[in-house]
Amino acid sequence: MSPFHLTRTLPEDAAGAALRADVHAGLTGSPKTLPPKWFYDARGSELFEEITALPEYYPTRAEREILLARADEIAAASGARTLVELGSGSSAKTRHLIAALTGLHTYVPVDVSESALTGAGRALAAERPGLDVHALVADFTARLTLPDTPGPRLVAFLGGTVGNLLPAERAAFLASVRALLAPGDALLLGTDLVKDERVLVRAYDDAAGVTAAFNKNVLSVVNRELGADFDPDAFDHVALWNSGHEWIEMRLRARTAQSVKIPALELVVDFAEGEELRTEVSAKFRQEGVRAELAAAGLELARWWTDAEARFALSLSVAR
Ligand code: AVJ
Repeated sequence: MSPFHLTRTLPEDAAGAALRADVHAGLTGSPKTLPPKWFYDARGSELFEEITALPEYYPTRAEREILLARADEIAAASGARTLVELGSGSSAKTRHLIAALTGLHTYVPVDVSESALTGAGRALAAERPGLDVHALVADFTARLTLPDTPGPRLVAFLGGTVGNLLPAERAAFLASVRALLAPGDALLLGTDLVKDERVLVRAYDDAAGVTAAFNKNVLSVVNRELGADFDPDAFDHVALWNSGHEWIEMRLRARTAQSVKIPALELVVDFAEGEELRTEVSAKFRQEGVRAELAAAGLELARWWTDAEARFALSLSVAR
């Protein structure tokens, strides 16, 4: 019997239908927006991997530092027999946590990318024989049904990706995570922290231009998937700190007035010169804010760890 199972929960054209709906709503609204989840085709995922190695982009290294230093504490505090990881990707950063969770019975990686899940599942099965890996091809912002596995459960959502959700989306997301847990089960959440504006802006506007290419890649995704004729070179990459919301925004600014055809939506979208399209919000947090958002979802902040420079935090909260 193989310890690797894979369950597909996404209907055949779920991604296509969602992309059409998001692009239509986002480009006919004012101001224009596109959700950040559409950055991540094969090229976008590659560019994101490059971003994580940039000198300016500290979050990945800071979170890894915390995970390495605290894996044993996290494991002891949760005592998890089932680990669910939302947006698991290659599961690279989870390795240490899995190694530290000595009583672990089942690992449930959840991702929209079936290829990432299969690759990670194989690697893990080899590394930890006997560990049941039950991969779920699913969109973690939608309602999830988890396999029936032994508790206690630990849900991990790393990378600071929770910051890509808008406040109302975040509240709904945290409530849906709480619904996956029994009292005493836990959530391990990675959150980037508020810091010097220059450090933040540089992390999203690197000297080598990798983040600019990543940002513009969403236009290539819309071109390929919806037959659109965006010219990525006709837009400038913009990264700015929104101090009212305490989030970084990435935008694409039209260099000239232009018209873009999107045949799959039978839509023509006009841009004025200098008009901006918001492509990402990346919220930065403070401990009290995280505590309050968790509490509103029925989760009690129990532990809070940061890297040595207090740039990034991992929190462990417990379902009430
Ligand atoms: C995917 C949430 C970790 O918001 O920092 C990196 C995505 N965007 N550079 C972030 C991203 C621009 C990233 N996360």
